[in-house]
Amino acid sequence: MGASRNAFSRMTVLALETSCDDTAAAVVAEGRILSNIVSSQLAHRDWGGVVPEVASRAHQRYVVPVVRNALEAANVEVRAIDAVACTYGPGLVGSLLVGLSFAKGMAVALGVPFVGVNHLDGHLYSPYAGKAEPPFPFLALVVSGGHTELLVVEGWNSRYRLGRTRDDAAGEAFDKVAKILGFPYPGGPAIETAARSGTRNYRAFPRADLEGYDYSFSGIKTSVLYHLNSVEPAERPDYLERHGPDLAASFQAAMIQMILSPLRRAIIDTGIENVAISGGVSANAELRLSASEVCRALGADLAIAPAELRTDNAAMIGLVAYYLIQTGQTSPLSLNVDPSAQLVQQGQIGQDAKTG
Ligand code: KG4
Ligand code: ZN
Repeated sequence: MGASRNAFSRMTVLALETSCDDTAAAVVAEGRILSNIVSSQLAHRDWGGVVPEVASRAHQRYVVPVVRNALEAANVEVRAIDAVACTYGPGLVGSLLVGLSFAKGMAVALGVPFVGVNHLDGHLYSPYAGKAEPPFPFLALVVSGGHTELLVVEGWNSRYRLGRTRDDAAGEAFDKVAKILGFPYPGGPAIETAARSGTRNYRAFPRADLEGYDYSFSGIKTSVLYHLNSVEPAERPDYLERHGPDLAASFQAAMIQMILSPLRRAIIDTGIENVAISGGVSANAELRLSASEVCRALGADLAIAPAELRTDNAAMIGLVAYYLIQTGQTSPLSLNVDPSAQLVQQGQIGQDAKTG
């Protein structure tokens, strides 16, 4: 085992990620990121959201150049690749299929192992990229466009869920409210930019704070919509011109409080001192600032991924694949896409699963 582990630890992994609207490829060698290329599909801006059919067609067009760019940027020849990894889910079925089929084909052509990776595992571990081992146990808050989940991660193969959103994901709420306020897609960055010149006390949007560690973001979205509908239609453009930034700042402040409240409770209740926040919404600087204040006040260590690993990327997939390969967990070529893959399996949900 020692010898093969050494051989594996020199592995160079090509990773692909095509679960949504970004075509991404990366090269990871010896657990280090050599390249990380993301091609974002700007066509979706015209539609105000991701159009699945447009996304999968674009992946087909971009996958080859993006992989080529990743190899070139890493200065790695294709024949030096020791394994090919790819996201198998969750995500859009048509988008996932493009990456997964391409990755399997490449693994077969090169005669190297193929590794399927759960996209959410990629996010979950991204704050600890570059570290030999995550500091288990840690509290993981994954806040992306499709997921909002709070977990206790005890080891690579041991975790349980404390809570998750009962309706919209946090990023989804940012995107939907941005659309209501007339900001471009994706909404999160647009709201963050607008909020910088706005007043967060302009409007007190309702902040759902459920018992336990669950989240709910659909109420605030409806509340922003009702507020805007209360303005005469003819006056709305002018109102948004004047108060769009105030509404963005007020919404963002409420979102951040709702995102961090269950996390604060979890730190106190579990006594766990390491916290990792990941996913696209962790790109929000105000969220990162508030999270670091919460953690500092409670004596917890906060880890957030570097900018290039916060939103969707393939390096985070390569890093998880690297761990999987080291522990012999490569995938059969029969592995299929799983559009609704989860972070935790049944029986790993809540404290009962841990004690029961
Ligand atoms: O993790 P990600 O890139 O893709 C998914 O797996 O969903 O997350 C994308 C989400 C989008 O909803 C986007 O609006 C949000 O992350 N996001 C942000 C920011 N940057 C991206 N939300 C708030 N503030 C940001 N700066
Ligand atoms: Zn993601």
